[in-house]
Amino acid sequence: MTPEALFDRDASWYDAAHDSHSVDGHALRARLETVIRRVGSGPGDLLDAGMGPGRLLERLASRDWTVSGVDLSERMIEHARRRLPQHANRLLQAPVEALPFADSTFDIVVATGVLEYVSDPTLAVGELVRVLRPAGRLIASLPNRRSIHVLSKRAYYPLVRAAKRALATERPAPPRQNGLTPDALERLLRHNGLDAIAFERTSFAIVPTPLDLIASRTAARAADALERGHRFGRLLATQLVIEARRR
Ligand SMILES: C[S@@+](CC[C@H](N)C(=O)[O-])C[C@H]1O[C@@H](n2cnc3c(N)ncnc32)[C@H](O)[C@@H]1O
Repeated sequence: MTPEALFDRDASWYDAAHDSHSVDGHALRARLETVIRRVGSGPGDLLDAGMGPGRLLERLASRDWTVSGVDLSERMIEHARRRLPQHANRLLQAPVEALPFADSTFDIVVATGVLEYVSDPTLAVGELVRVLRPAGRLIASLPNRRSIHVLSKRAYYPLVRAAKRALATERPAPPRQNGLTPDALERLLRHNGLDAIAFERTSFAIVPTPLDLIASRTAARAADALERGHRFGRLLATQLVIEARRR
């Protein structure tokens, strides 16, 4: 399956997961809120690259940002256009690696949950920076591969699959990631003329898989409580949000 087809297949699941009382739901909401807080209020021009179903753009449009978005997946774009009908003509099908915008178009560019999937991270980061105005900000995320949750998933993967099948919560296998690390992303940003101004850990998950599937609500509540208390982020955060400013 092509990456477009995989994201098309997952679009409805991914959109609905934002409202679920599960560890996935908590993780998605926590990252979204982190990004909204970092972006702040408009006015200004903002691009969400790999916008998915448009949840972030919906929230930022109501904070006075003039929002645009791109995504590879037609199904994701359909969700986004339904959510933001008044901005539909600025929600486009395009790869992050070849953005259909002139240089220096945006005050803020967001790319969450997407840089780990792009075919060429160097090209993608170059494009994100090209469309950013001088002194503009890029806010991006990457998975925290050192979190207990991610490590436990890897260690118990066969068990996880069996538990998910037994509990009928098996979600389709996600698209393959490219292995881009936070250090490599920071080097790429610096090389492209951006200075990192903040790193924030988010999307805590405490109960190791497969227990999180059995006690899903409890696991999500525990993660939420620890995240609010900012405790043990290095181990528990499944996502890192990086903010950088163009020189
Ligand atoms: C995990 S979702 C993240 C969606 C959203 N940014 C968020 O934070 O919830 C990844 C999204 O990136 C899109 N995507 C993946 N690779 C892409 C690429 N090379 N160019 C544009 N979009 C891409 C997928 O279609 C999908 O909608």
